[in-house]
Amino acid sequence: MGHHLSLFRFFPLVAARDNEPEDRAMSERADTPPDRDLPGTILETPRLVLRRPVRADAQRMADLANDVGVAENLSNLPHPYGLDDALAFIDNTEAGPARWTLGLYLKDEGSRFVGTASLMPRDGERFVLGYWVGRPYWGRGLATEAAQALSDFAFGALEADAVAATSRVTNGASRRVLEKCGFQYAGQGMGPSLFYRGMVPIDRFRLERSIWTSLKNWVKTGVGA
Ligand SMILES: CC(C)(COP(=O)(O)OP(=O)(O)OC[C@H]1O[C@@H](n2cnc3c(N)ncnc32)[C@H](O)[C@@H]1OP(=O)(O)O)[C@@H](O)C(=O)NCCC(=O)NCCS
Repeated sequence: MGHHLSLFRFFPLVAARDNEPEDRAMSERADTPPDRDLPGTILETPRLVLRRPVRADAQRMADLANDVGVAENLSNLPHPYGLDDALAFIDNTEAGPARWTLGLYLKDEGSRFVGTASLMPRDGERFVLGYWVGRPYWGRGLATEAAQALSDFAFGALEADAVAATSRVTNGASRRVLEKCGFQYAGQGMGPSLFYRGMVPIDRFRLERSIWTSLKNWVKTGVGA
């Protein structure tokens, strides 16, 4: 029986600045992966169920992921992307306790697979958020809903101090998703791109626990609703 968390939405607000040194959480916690495996984690949002993908999703995943617009914005998605890639990806989601890779299933469409969202350790960060949504589903707020759900999961069940994310500097949609979730710009860098077989300029973002807590409290008290 998995954890089944019902999540309420939180709304993007101008967040108060955190006075803590930005890298405190990272230096204290980066090398300590979560000690709890929540293998059957299922998250629920108003329109999505987030759960571990299964092999039966592989063809649909391959169809949606085999898209230049997806591959060029992710760090390590093979392109072209076929059934074997999807099967390997799905099998790998069973791997470890420190990473959560969940499929996004749209309730309205009979719980069809529409993308993925993940939390994993990377670059000294304990939790790095990533996501993609199939092109037919862009522009409906689904990535934002999934990103909020995984952020809530990280700060709630996993007791994260911060969640990090990166996006290519050219990826305005992803930047907007992160802004809508309360993430703050944390500088530029270079990140790997399997699609371009090299490094590409990226923007870094972080959502600190104190800001996430403020956002949740503002929603509870009705501020900004
Ligand atoms: C980025 C991605 C996840 C967004 O998914 P989505 O479900 O369409 O996102 P949402 O609908 O929740 O939000 C998108 C926001 O970006 C805005 N947007 C779209 N294109 C944009 C652009 N070129 N520049 C700036 N903002 C843009 C939308 O208007 C929307 O903001 P709004 O709600 O204020 O109007 C999706 O396009 C995708 O999977 N892209 C390929 C993979 C990828 O980039 N993953 C992220 C890697 S960091």
